Amino acid sequence: MKSILDRRSFLGVAGSASALAAVTTSQVVAQAGEKPVLLVGIACSPRPGKTTAQSVRAALDAAAAVNPRIRTQLIDLGGRRIAGWSPKIEPDDFDAILPTLKDPALAGMIIGSPCYFRSLSSLCKAFIERCMPLRDAPAPLADKWIGAIAVAGNRNGGQELVVQQILTAMLSYGMMAVGGESPAMLGGTLWNSQGDDAHLDQGGIQSARLLGTRLGKLAAARKDE
Ligand SMILES: Cc1cc2nc3c(=O)[nH]c(=O)nc-3n(C[C@H](O)[C@H](O)[C@H](O)COP(=O)(O)O)c2cc1C
Repeated sequence: MKSILDRRSFLGVAGSASALAAVTTSQVVAQAGEKPVLLVGIACSPRPGKTTAQSVRAALDAAAAVNPRIRTQLIDLGGRRIAGWSPKIEPDDFDAILPTLKDPALAGMIIGSPCYFRSLSSLCKAFIERCMPLRDAPAPLADKWIGAIAVAGNRNGGQELVVQQILTAMLSYGMMAVGGESPAMLGGTLWNSQGDDAHLDQGGIQSARLLGTRLGKLAAARKDE
């Protein structure tokens, strides 16, 4: 009797174990079957690696932490030569960026700009203008997420205006504007209070992270095409 019970309980345990193993394996396969999704951050300060780039990096890191499916790429425009749109555009550094923006894995973008005279930087404006060819079919930016980050030298130096300007411009590409998780509903708004260290503005850097977290969740939920 004891041996039968032992055998039943062994089979029960073994059955559960194999069922568990099957579920776990299928989950792993499902995860492995999901294609990577790409979130690109564009830092639009002429000063590479400074507070705008630091903030965009923080947002991308928060997004990547949401799900292993998420890949991130920071494109720091600081030091790069990008002219605004004109009828005859000379080759410049935008050409090297274009393939990334056309990547089929692209799920969304974060554009960060310093506040210059309560507006976005001319580098940021030039980048947005040069995306013009991406409006043509198959319109690779359409139906992708866009979030924005702005850094200013004053606490109220135009951050919200700049975020709105970026989001509004990118609606022209068919992108879907998103803010961050509460309380960073608008997106990343930071104050470069001292020493060009974005992390010294703890509330501000948190707003960038909350934007990244929201974008990460949205990107991770994207269905494979
Ligand atoms: C041309 C110029 C205009 C600026 N205008 C503003 C402004 O309107 N409001 C503000 O708070 N800070 C202003 N600043 C300060 C920058 O927004 C701030 O230093 C920001 O952190 C720069 O970004 P970065 O560190 O990524 O270069 C201005 C700076 C420059 C160079």
